[in-house]
Amino acid sequence: MSQIRKIGICTGGGDCPGLNAVIRAAVRTAVLKYGYEVIGIEDGFDGLIWPAEKARPLTIHDVSGILPRGGTILGTTNRGDPFRYKLNADGKDVVKDFSDDVIQNAKALGMDALIVIGGDGTQKIGLQLFEKGLKIVGVPKTIDNDLSATEITFGFDTALHTATDAIDKIHTTAESHHRIMLVEVMGRDAGWIALEAGIAGGAHVILIPEIPFTIERICQFVRDREAIGKRFTIIVVAEGCKPPSDMAAKYESQKRAVPRPGQIGNAIGEAIAMTARRETRVTVLGHIQRGGSPSPFDRILSTRFGVAAVELIARGAFGRMVCLREARIHDVPIADAVGAMKSVDPKGEMVQVAKAIGVGFGD
Ligand code: F6P
Repeated sequence: MSQIRKIGICTGGGDCPGLNAVIRAAVRTAVLKYGYEVIGIEDGFDGLIWPAEKARPLTIHDVSGILPRGGTILGTTNRGDPFRYKLNADGKDVVKDFSDDVIQNAKALGMDALIVIGGDGTQKIGLQLFEKGLKIVGVPKTIDNDLSATEITFGFDTALHTATDAIDKIHTTAESHHRIMLVEVMGRDAGWIALEAGIAGGAHVILIPEIPFTIERICQFVRDREAIGKRFTIIVVAEGCKPPSDMAAKYESQKRAVPRPGQIGNAIGEAIAMTARRETRVTVLGHIQRGGSPSPFDRILSTRFGVAAVELIARGAFGRMVCLREARIHDVPIADAVGAMKSVDPKGEMVQVAKAIGVGFGD
């Protein structure tokens, strides 16, 4: 058992529906069950670099009413790695290591342990701070659901609702205008949102980074649909897709930059329009998927994770991250959790389900 009186909480990396629900659950458990004081660390780890402006007490009152609220009341950043902090000093870009300041400031605040809520990058920073002596516990977060240590991350379900709703809406206009319509969804490295929202929204084609596709095969799929009287096609594209082989040559020969997330849907849409000679429209959902109120599933998972994180602290189980395995709360060493991505298995059940009902993957 560890002697804990005061704990900190921070949120790092991209925001995600459910962060506030984790904060609320952790504060309530810490205060009500264990009598700990809680400090909110603002903007990732910035609050431990500049505690005077960016660290504040978090009471039960402070977390009242935040359960259904998207975003994070603590603020976040994906540019705040204290080990390699980018600053502009006297007009010059410099990189500074603030990790010793973080450790000292945590001590000065009387902080006995820190809950780090974040994705892979944030957990890696948490692990480094743990190795430097800070008592860290982790809570995984990403709407992309691509962390292998946990079956599911909160925020994913809410993003799926948003993406599925968008695909439903695109469906009616695509059908009316007899168009090919692409919906680009998030998923920087993995195609989980595209795959599951595509299935839930009844998409005809799903393009994900894990399954190589070609423009020609997508166009053939469109022609095959037309041959049976279907004059519209809905294509869901994961933003992490790279241009397929029959598009890539164009980028190489014209020395053009390969499209980034947010551009790939338009690039593929243009290529399909040129090849199939059909009217094509593209919708990029972008950060809408990260915003808004968490779904009931995400609120519950976030609450379970928040409670479990405080339980880890009470047990003295530092350097560990909470996770979900077979629908139950578990914990794993952060060291085993970071850097291990969960990709869609092209031979896995979910892809086979989609294929069985006739969804094309352009492969
Ligand atoms: O990793 C989560 C994620 O939402 C990705 O799907 C997306 O590519 C990225 O974050 C966007 O990050 P930013 O907020 O920096 O644009």
